[in-house]
Amino acid sequence: MRKILVAGNWKMHGSRAMVQELLSGLLDGTNKAGNADMAVFPPFPYLAETQRLLTGSSIFWGGQTLNPAAQGAHTGEVSAGMLLDFGCSMVLVGHSERRTIYAESDEDVAERFEAALAAGLVPVLCVGETLEERENGTTETVVARQLDAVLNRCGIEGFRRAIVAYEPVWAIGTGKTASPDQAQAVHAFIRDKFVSQDDIIAGQLRILYGGSVNGTNAADLFAREDIDGGLVGGASLKVADFLAIRDAVD
Ligand code: 13P
Repeated sequence: MRKILVAGNWKMHGSRAMVQELLSGLLDGTNKAGNADMAVFPPFPYLAETQRLLTGSSIFWGGQTLNPAAQGAHTGEVSAGMLLDFGCSMVLVGHSERRTIYAESDEDVAERFEAALAAGLVPVLCVGETLEERENGTTETVVARQLDAVLNRCGIEGFRRAIVAYEPVWAIGTGKTASPDQAQAVHAFIRDKFVSQDDIIAGQLRILYGGSVNGTNAADLFAREDIDGGLVGGASLKVADFLAIRDAVD
């Protein structure tokens, strides 16, 4: 049986008080043995508090991005080593907001993915098309291009310890979720692309869906063959909502 991953990307939300309340609530709610792993991705300033509260628990945590350099004159940036210092085991790379607002190219994303792997972090590679690209019928071309940049740099071996998150840009923060059929079709496309290179890695790869996931739509999405969990934004900021998504797994 697959183990679903329910991951919360807090983006630039929160406060010290909110982090304490949210993580205490999640810890109280993780007594239930279920078929889901959980992970949270807080803003950098809250990683220390996250490490303090989650160490020894079953919840994973990680950074929302990283700089590929080990150190240096990169004002405002954070390296893989710094994330490891705060107990991170994962890091998001290529989130659509990084690609669009901060102009990260496919190659920049691939470089970050490689740096994460080299440091021993699990990269969560985010891919997905805009509304215009979907309407033009280029969803698969766009997703393939985003994956190929990483495959060209790290090879299929790079995905042995990685996670992929399919996040259609038009579904992020809009309340407009991709239907289970739409999401499954792209997830199957992603897995098939890897099958041609290594069917074991492809079979074990976790492919998460992200974009307006909530407690109501999660069960239908997670029931699909190639949807191995969710990367949740807004609904991960409230304990009850996030736990409702986790509970949708069983
Ligand atoms: P929402 O769940 O708020 O749509 O955000 C999805 C997302 O971007 C997670 O990384």
